Amino acid sequence: MNNLHAVYFSATDTTARCVRAICRGYASTPESEINLANDLDIPFRDFKENDVVVVAAPVYGGRLPAQVADSLKRLKGNGATAIATVVFGNRDYDDALLELTDLLIDRNFRIVGAGAFIGQHSIFPKVGVARPDAEDEKQLLSFGKECRLAVDRNVDTYPSLQIKGKRPYKKIVGIPLHPSAKAADCVKCGQCVASCPTGAISADSPYATNPEVCISCGRCIHVCSTGARRHGGAMYRIIGTLFKIGFSKRKESEWTVAK
Ligand SMILES: Cc1cc2nc3c(=O)[nH]c(=O)nc-3n(C[C@H](O)[C@H](O)[C@H](O)COP(=O)(O)O)c2cc1C
Ligand code: SF4
Ligand code: SF4
Repeated sequence: MNNLHAVYFSATDTTARCVRAICRGYASTPESEINLANDLDIPFRDFKENDVVVVAAPVYGGRLPAQVADSLKRLKGNGATAIATVVFGNRDYDDALLELTDLLIDRNFRIVGAGAFIGQHSIFPKVGVARPDAEDEKQLLSFGKECRLAVDRNVDTYPSLQIKGKRPYKKIVGIPLHPSAKAADCVKCGQCVASCPTGAISADSPYATNPEVCISCGRCIHVCSTGARRHGGAMYRIIGTLFKIGFSKRKESEWTVAK
């Protein structure tokens, strides 16, 4: 009997929705679920050989978000099986899935399946609009189901999997776009302060953002009930227009499961 677990980072809920669909396809409810966006500073966590862990992260600049990769290094696989998943905003996932599978193998996980799925772009929501949608959901369910069949048959795992990407991975490039809040619309509820995974917002002035620690994840916008926090400025509008032109054409998910 294999026990299912889920460890992921999801700031604006698309990765979390993908993980839930994979678990439904796998036909099991996770025994434990950790969203690293609630606490990047997790303690070291040991898994057992008969555990199956869905490990998922969004793609930032074609890579894993650096802080998320650091947190995932605290997982110890001890021969457990992993289902590696990245979620990207309809541009590209570049080296992120390869980086995730390399990291998990290094932490002594066996990879049974690896997939890259699409979520609405969390900085430019006019790209990948309303993804994952019904078609994505079907594919996520299939991925989960195929992984379950492979686990039940105890098939050989990675390196039989072909995963897109290059080593050394793409260089990490920071994104100079950070949301802030319009003071007139802010009711100082503190939701954004409590939810920011990197502590970039101070309770005294939730309108401002510390650009040195903000990772542009969009969580503060997602939780702000008055719509006060948002992206703005000329650079945001220009890049947003270029993204809409360049990356609106629908892309499809890609996945591979060990045979
Ligand atoms: C800082 C940052 C960088 C991103 N870089 C990429 C990228 O390189 N390629 C892409 O397709 N989407 C990119 N995205 C979009 C996210 O990968 C996508 O919206 C994902 O679904 C967000 O997951 P979440 O809703 O679980 O937080 C980026 C988003 C952010 C915030
Ligand atoms: S969540 Fe919105 S309304 Fe609440 S403190 Fe933050 S910016 Fe202000
Ligand atoms: S301030 Fe930056 S890091 Fe914090 S929740 Fe908002 S976008 Fe994410």
